[in-house]
Amino acid sequence: MPEQPGRRPLPHLRHPQSHDMIAAVLHTPQFQPARYQCFDLKPLSGALGAEITGTRLDQLDERLVSEIEAALADHLVLAFRDIDLSPESQVALARRLGNVIEWPYATPMADYPELTELVSGPRDVNNFGGSWHTDSSTFENPPKYTLLYCVDCPSVGGDTSFANQYLAWDTLPEDVKTDLEGLRLVHSTKRGFGDHSRATGSASATTTPVSVPTQHENLVSVHPVARTHPVTGKKALYVNSGFSSQFEGWSEEESQPLRDALGAHGAIPEFTCRVTWRPGTLLIWDNRCALHYAHNDYRGQNRTMRRAVVEGERPI
Ligand code: SIN
Repeated sequence: MPEQPGRRPLPHLRHPQSHDMIAAVLHTPQFQPARYQCFDLKPLSGALGAEITGTRLDQLDERLVSEIEAALADHLVLAFRDIDLSPESQVALARRLGNVIEWPYATPMADYPELTELVSGPRDVNNFGGSWHTDSSTFENPPKYTLLYCVDCPSVGGDTSFANQYLAWDTLPEDVKTDLEGLRLVHSTKRGFGDHSRATGSASATTTPVSVPTQHENLVSVHPVARTHPVTGKKALYVNSGFSSQFEGWSEEESQPLRDALGAHGAIPEFTCRVTWRPGTLLIWDNRCALHYAHNDYRGQNRTMRRAVVEGERPI
């Protein structure tokens, strides 16, 4: 890539990273989970995620809400099992966690403007969310939390995987981290929901059609490649391959090798956990420090999820 006056050359990421480097970094809360008074918590992998049992979510006292927030800060993804969650209770819980956004890209659920039903039917070929991504990074203030509740799912298949982006950042070589400091990525709906996504099938041909309202057709936000989490103070890689078109000031072609290498680095298997759904499971995840990926391996079956998103802060 030709170097131009006043512009730094983009760093080259060696990939794959050495296994020593990956194995040396632990996400400590997985190995020393805190004790909670309102529920039982069991980590799902060495990287992130925890299963929560022994609580209900229809009565939300202060202690329960603050323990949920603390567990999210530690584990990034929480899987509440065997919860009978009505749409009203889902909205009520989301509101306790912050400002609930009406998601503009799909028709909301009847009578519940803050909820979207994500429905895959037996004839669908592609699925919604079938690439590593973080939700709605095209927004100036992208959602901090997503609450996804399983209404119906296949007996096998349709899992969702997550990847810990603190670990992704921590395991980058120091010289690459230095080069990435201050670099910003352009996130656009054109890439996420336009020709690129139609070509890759990542946001099309599901029973829940994604349609981009005119005022959001070319929604663009520019966010840092590494963001600092406002609660934990830790740095996380913030590269959303599905929506990030280019580094600020660089063309898409120039940006592609590094963007793709960082995207692949963020999804290294040692950074992940995988959740198998069953009806009555609620997942809450933190989009500021975790990527997710909906597996498309249940052709011919139904999968229905109910989703709410809670507004976050502008990434810094
Ligand atoms: C999403 O990407 O928000 C949905 C993930 C899923 O359906 O598993």
